[in-house]
Amino acid sequence: MTTPTLDFDLTIRNGRISTDSTTFFADIGVREGVIVAIAKNLPKGKRDIDATDRWVLPGGIDSHCHVEQLSGMGMMCADDFYSATVSAAFGGTTTIIPFAAQHRGNQIPEVVASYAKLAAEKAVIDYGIHLILADPTEEALTTHLPAVIREGITSFKIYMTYDRMKLDDYQILDVLEVAGREGALVMVHAENNDMIRWIAKRLVERGLTAPKYHAVAHTPLAETEATNRAVALATLMDVPLLIVHVSGLEAVRVIHSAQALGLPIHAETCPQYLFLTAEDIDLPGTEGAKFCCSPPPRDPESQEAVWQGLINGTLQMFSSDHAPYRYDTSGKLPKGEATTFKDMANGVPGIEVRLPLLFSEGVLKERMSIERFVAVTATNHARTYGLYPRKGTIAVGSDADFAIWNPEKKVTISTSMLHDNVGYTPYEGKQITGWPEVVISAGRVVVENGSLHAERGSGRFIKRGTPEPVLRQRLSGNPNSIMRKYFS
Ligand code: URP
Ligand code: ZN
Ligand code: ZN
Repeated sequence: MTTPTLDFDLTIRNGRISTDSTTFFADIGVREGVIVAIAKNLPKGKRDIDATDRWVLPGGIDSHCHVEQLSGMGMMCADDFYSATVSAAFGGTTTIIPFAAQHRGNQIPEVVASYAKLAAEKAVIDYGIHLILADPTEEALTTHLPAVIREGITSFKIYMTYDRMKLDDYQILDVLEVAGREGALVMVHAENNDMIRWIAKRLVERGLTAPKYHAVAHTPLAETEATNRAVALATLMDVPLLIVHVSGLEAVRVIHSAQALGLPIHAETCPQYLFLTAEDIDLPGTEGAKFCCSPPPRDPESQEAVWQGLINGTLQMFSSDHAPYRYDTSGKLPKGEATTFKDMANGVPGIEVRLPLLFSEGVLKERMSIERFVAVTATNHARTYGLYPRKGTIAVGSDADFAIWNPEKKVTISTSMLHDNVGYTPYEGKQITGWPEVVISAGRVVVENGSLHAERGSGRFIKRGTPEPVLRQRLSGNPNSIMRKYFS
């Protein structure tokens, strides 16, 4: 606890504060966007917020969301930086890290510069940027990647699937090597492309084209195999790796086994794997398209394994993988009623309901502690992606990013209450308890009384430092590393 010495721009009073390790009652003093005091009975600020009976948590960090981005299938997201960040803020998230997507033939510096411009013009909360890397040419590996890492883009996502995005194993080794050398983190979409392609072709030939066959084509084995292979490739290169959007029981087991061997294999999951199953996709006509993402929601056993993995630490992060596509020809139904599961945009929205869903069903239903909630929704993202301790915690010196939760508020999720531009939610009608009523970004009250109080373009680009994946310190890595022995 620190004793205040000067006036505060903002004081948050009497709140029940949680970090990833502790919960306590105190006031928080904020000056120039930064927390400058945490103590009881702080003097009044220029603005005082009474948080009696409220839970004051670090603002969420959503480190996996797709915003104003062209997908691997060539479809543009329905959310731009304005609608996505407004929606994020209303759901208690104060920092997002979406993707500047390189497609084959694109030059990384141009991709990043144009994406950064879109964000700077529209974002209402702070943001970092990851790179999606689809064309690891010699120039990209030796010049462009090191340059963007120096600019604070210290993580990049690669794909093992999608014909237009996927890297082969040799390319993945190249990328891992650069990441290891330059201190960046590789995030991998782990699904076996040929398994999916092979099954999908035969399903379509037999006329089995409804959305539910998306989950058949994206067999859990495709995820298990690719996860296993990604772990092997990272082990060979002796670098940390992050497996994104983990959905299946076997994938969780592969990750857990790697960690048990001391390998720094990190993993993330998303609301669709905790709150949906493959049954939700089985709807008449094309309606199931609203639930199709890759990997798809699985069976109840996998759903439970993902819950357990998030609770017990096998999975360190809970992100939205918000992939906003409208239920029309711009996204989910490019061929109208004739759209097959192969044609539709992959992905589900979730940037606004990510935190409320987990708060209600995880914390209030006593499946996870509030400290674990803070870890998987904020702190672990900050550490893993080089934002800590500036973001992801409540501490003197950290940015004043808060979500002030009413833990008793009853909410029925509906499209009409959300602020994205998608036009549906897979969670329509779900009743939850708890909502972040006041949201503060760098000391600015951006959401209060159900209204937005932030200007377009007021969010800041946050240059990220070297990722410190949360398992790196705990796990020792590969003792027989060929990289260490021959190539370091
Ligand atoms: O289906 C999904 N998850 N779409 C978004 C793109 C990705 O692979 O994360
Ligand atoms: Zn992905
Ligand atoms: Zn994604």
